[in-house]
Amino acid sequence: MEDIVIHNALGVCSAEEDTQILARVSAEEAPAGGRALDMGTGTGYVAIYLARRGLEVEATDVSERALGLAGENIRRNSVPVRLYRSDLFSAVQGKFDVIAFNPPMNPRETELTRWVTSFLRRHRCIADLLMRVFDRWLQGSRMDFLVRFMEQAKGYLRPGGCVVLEATRAELDALETLLPAWRVCRRIDIPSLPAEQIAVFRPSGERDV
Ligand SMILES: C[S@@+](CC[C@H](N)C(=O)[O-])C[C@H]1O[C@@H](n2cnc3c(N)ncnc32)[C@H](O)[C@@H]1O
Repeated sequence: MEDIVIHNALGVCSAEEDTQILARVSAEEAPAGGRALDMGTGTGYVAIYLARRGLEVEATDVSERALGLAGENIRRNSVPVRLYRSDLFSAVQGKFDVIAFNPPMNPRETELTRWVTSFLRRHRCIADLLMRVFDRWLQGSRMDFLVRFMEQAKGYLRPGGCVVLEATRAELDALETLLPAWRVCRRIDIPSLPAEQIAVFRPSGERDV
């Protein structure tokens, strides 16, 4: 994990391989010195990675526990990141060149489900098996949330900006069909989570940068 120092804690999604790929792809898609939003920052890894590359970064999370841990990790790595609580875009202002989001497995999270999912993230084969078994259920319960996120995201992008989103392959297929205002430019595999991918979405009608 480069030379970034990250402490994990139960109750907060740990930084894993998918987190690292999300950070790398977001950095690849952002223009030098651009503005980035790390939504649902968890440990703060993506925000720290992007700030290290000279981007102006804001990081949000709905969970106070995650914000506490991300704040500690941001201080540990001595990077400038503006960190605040937001439920999706409720407290976000301004526009960004890249918006990165690894959404929660269950959008109706409670303290208990946060503990369970943070435990599962550390055991990738169990997590991948559950994603496969519950794929249909997840699609039903997460699609509304993902569509809401994508519809709101459009208003927070600078011209040429993009969203980098992690989701299951089935969810990404469905989003491509459901969201004509967006097009998918790249889909990147996650070796440890074969059921999921990271996709780069750009508003339809805009060219790749
Ligand atoms: C799967 S974890 C990803 C954490 C981190 N970005 C990573 O990739 O390791 C999802 C994160 O989204 C946060 N989250 C859940 N619902 C949210 C919402 N409505 N708005 C913002 N963040 C949310 C959770 O608290 C959690 O930290």
